[in-house]
Amino acid sequence: MLQIISKSVEETKSIARKIAKSFNVGDLIILDGNMGAGKTHFVQGVLQAYEYSKKVISPTFNIANFYETKTVTVLHIDLYRIEDIEEFDDLGIIEYFDSSIVFMEWGKKIADNFDEYLLISIEIDEENENQRKINFTAKGDKYEKKLIIE
Ligand SMILES: Nc1ncnc2c1ncn2[C@@H]1O[C@H](COP(=O)(O)OP(=O)(O)OP(=O)(O)O)[C@@H](O)[C@H]1O
Ligand SMILES: [Mg+2]
Repeated sequence: MLQIISKSVEETKSIARKIAKSFNVGDLIILDGNMGAGKTHFVQGVLQAYEYSKKVISPTFNIANFYETKTVTVLHIDLYRIEDIEEFDDLGIIEYFDSSIVFMEWGKKIADNFDEYLLISIEIDEENENQRKINFTAKGDKYEKKLIIE
């Protein structure tokens, strides 16, 4: 596991921009953490790295947003309102996983259905409202290699 401390929104986005360079189409990144932890801001940082200049908003209500960047398609999913794997399957979005870089907020509830993924868990610091602990855990060799952030 790799842990990085972020002291501000800008730092969270900067960390996201750095690790974004190691992601490829077909990758699955599960984002975990309480409401307001910074999952969506992390994805905004990732999209900056891919030079996406339009607005990136939370997919809480529409569940999935697709972002066509200059190089890759990013699929940003929010499973807050999804209960289980049956409901997830009904969405029909799995068919886009192979052709996108997938970020799944609240994805831990269906994580057991995937053999490999990168888990990014964001913890709010109780003592400092702008501080976060960002934990990166690789499930599978493919993601282990991506955990080098300079
Ligand atoms: N270091 C930090 N990193 C990220 N966000 C921070 C940080 N410090 C404060 N914040 C604030 O925390 C909030 C994070 O909101 P964000 O929508 O990214 O959370 P989320 O984890 O996606 O929540 P939800 O589960 O509701 O989708 C924002 O209001 C942001 O300004
Ligand atoms: Mg969010």
